[in-house]
Amino acid sequence: MTQMVLLLDFGAQYGQLIARRVREAGVYCEILPADTPARQVAERRPAGIILSGGPASVYGPEAPTMDRELLSAGVPVLGICYGMQLMAQVLGGRVEPGPGEYGRVELRVVEPDGLLRGVEECTPVWMSHGDRVLEPPPDFRVLAESSACPVAAMAAPERGLYAVQFHPEVAHTARGMEILKNFLFGVCHLAGDWSMEAFIPAAVDQIRRRMGEEGRAICALSGGVDSAVAAALVHRAVGDRLTAVFVDHGLLREGEGEEVVRTFREQLGVPLVHVEARDRFLAKLAGVTDPEAKRRIIGTEFVRVFEEQAARLGRVDFLVQGTLYPDVIESGHGKAALIKTHHNVGGLPEDLALELVEPLRELFKDEVRRLGRELGLPEGIVRRQPFPGPGLAVRILGEVTPERLALLRRADRVVREEIEAAGWAERLWQYFAVLPEGRSVGVMGDGRSYGAAVVLRAVTSEDGMTADWARLPHELLDRIARRVVNEVPGVVRVVYDLTAKPPGTIEWE
Ligand code: XMP
Repeated sequence: MTQMVLLLDFGAQYGQLIARRVREAGVYCEILPADTPARQVAERRPAGIILSGGPASVYGPEAPTMDRELLSAGVPVLGICYGMQLMAQVLGGRVEPGPGEYGRVELRVVEPDGLLRGVEECTPVWMSHGDRVLEPPPDFRVLAESSACPVAAMAAPERGLYAVQFHPEVAHTARGMEILKNFLFGVCHLAGDWSMEAFIPAAVDQIRRRMGEEGRAICALSGGVDSAVAAALVHRAVGDRLTAVFVDHGLLREGEGEEVVRTFREQLGVPLVHVEARDRFLAKLAGVTDPEAKRRIIGTEFVRVFEEQAARLGRVDFLVQGTLYPDVIESGHGKAALIKTHHNVGGLPEDLALELVEPLRELFKDEVRRLGRELGLPEGIVRRQPFPGPGLAVRILGEVTPERLALLRRADRVVREEIEAAGWAERLWQYFAVLPEGRSVGVMGDGRSYGAAVVLRAVTSEDGMTADWARLPHELLDRIARRVVNEVPGVVRVVYDLTAKPPGTIEWE
């Protein structure tokens, strides 16, 4: 792996953003918990260390601290916000409570060199702090100030120590990227040559070492981008020693299953077991209306089918999973782990006794998409919107029947076509059709003759945790509604869901 920067995370709101900015500058960056011992940090041989911000006060009872040896290990350190206050406190400076600054603040540069090279004398920065550094530690120089902060940036260049009170990683800090680059290139002397192109050979190498000469791997393709990219990457590394299993539960959207099979089998030449298990899933779902019961049935059945296939393959040593970096950090901090397990219906049995290969553990979603493109995956897969493991079963309220499934797939296709044609796809987190329960469809039999209402759901979101309904143009809504009613037999009405999350959820079940 090329040279990297380690980010010690003190609970920052913008922690992942700092890591992303560093990577955007062409430097590989990983996040570690703030209290990682100096010895462990040193083992990773970082070329630089960044101390993130965080919500605590250095005087608070629960204030996270750091191994102070890191400040004298000879590796350059950049403290940001809380990271700066901690550095000041640990090294003998003076930190005191408020007045705080929140939002855009004018920075006055005192020393336009080193860290602040190329920054104008007055420049807007983004601040978010209660405490402030009143006096820097001995040997430190003040690089900049603001109206509330006599020390808004400081440095002891001989010791490789730098710190800023403001947030260089957010876009509101006009010169933030230059300041980060000054640290990465000017101070740490990094090359800035990390890229997705450079990532592939390094990752391939790592996978080969992990799997040895003989190791055989299996992976489950869900139709989503993460598992597809993980499979393509592992295939690049070990070729036919990887077998992909695609369990088609029949609950995917129109055309998605076919595209997965075509891409992997024909285009990439990956050995693919395509299990067409639709009837099996639908039989288990017959008569079931409770959403959680549906999820459980699909999850259990999925694992069963996958286990059967794994057993047929004979010897298998590794299981490839498309775990992403945010999942890794989030489960590390414990906060989102639960949400993930709940959602992880495509999850695999723990007692398969396989070792995990997770080649995307270090990547963010947009990096995975770029990697997918480099690996030759088609745009249809690379750009695919998030899709729940239980698929259309949680978008069909009440019973899932072949007729209702067919109706929803047709309506959903129209929604996708129109939103994509209007150029809205890129701006939305998810967009899809939902089939609510109605007297006219479901257990009564042939629903199409009674007439159903279809719900259009389109949301914007950063991460799926919160979301807002998309302000789609009226003309677009009109086109979708007309086409769905005209082209999908059995649908007589289209409504648009205007609920944000919270209080609603994105999916209807
Ligand atoms: P909600 O509906 O909870 O959805 O606002 C948030 C995100 O999670 C997806 N989702 C699921 N994904 N299995 C999954 O793999 C599930 O059971 C599931 N339920 C919701 C949803 O599509 C959205 O992106």
